[in-house]
Amino acid sequence: MYSKKVMDHFQNPRNVGEIENASGVGTVGNAKCGDIMRMFLDIDENGVIRDCKFKTFGCGAAVATSSMATELVKGKTVNEALKITNKAVMEALDGLPPVKVHCSLLAEEAIHAALWDYAKKNNITIEGLKEPVKDIEEIEEEND
Ligand code: FES
Repeated sequence: MYSKKVMDHFQNPRNVGEIENASGVGTVGNAKCGDIMRMFLDIDENGVIRDCKFKTFGCGAAVATSSMATELVKGKTVNEALKITNKAVMEALDGLPPVKVHCSLLAEEAIHAALWDYAKKNNITIEGLKEPVKDIEEIEEEND
């Protein structure tokens, strides 16, 4: 049911933890399943993401997608990170079963929420970044 990559990132998740004095922190939940994701970003003065860590009360697919998402955003600029969609994360993991696709939205939205926090703290606008939702169900309803 799950690809080898999903199992690997679930069993050995990368970048689990917190970043002290993070440049941006974002928390997003999914009221339907009760899962919560928190992302921490460390961003340097050139807007490059030096480090990214996550903590989750999430299912296996949420752990695997967050792990992959943190790997993908590291070293990217803020604008590049914004373009990393849950689809790209799923592709990097060789796919997810359809019932688990919503889990990958947690990681994407938590990154957006952390970027939003960073922008707010630094009084900057990140082009294309919308105010994040607290609950990804709101996005799912939009997409229905
Ligand atoms: Fe809730 Fe996967 S079932 S994030």
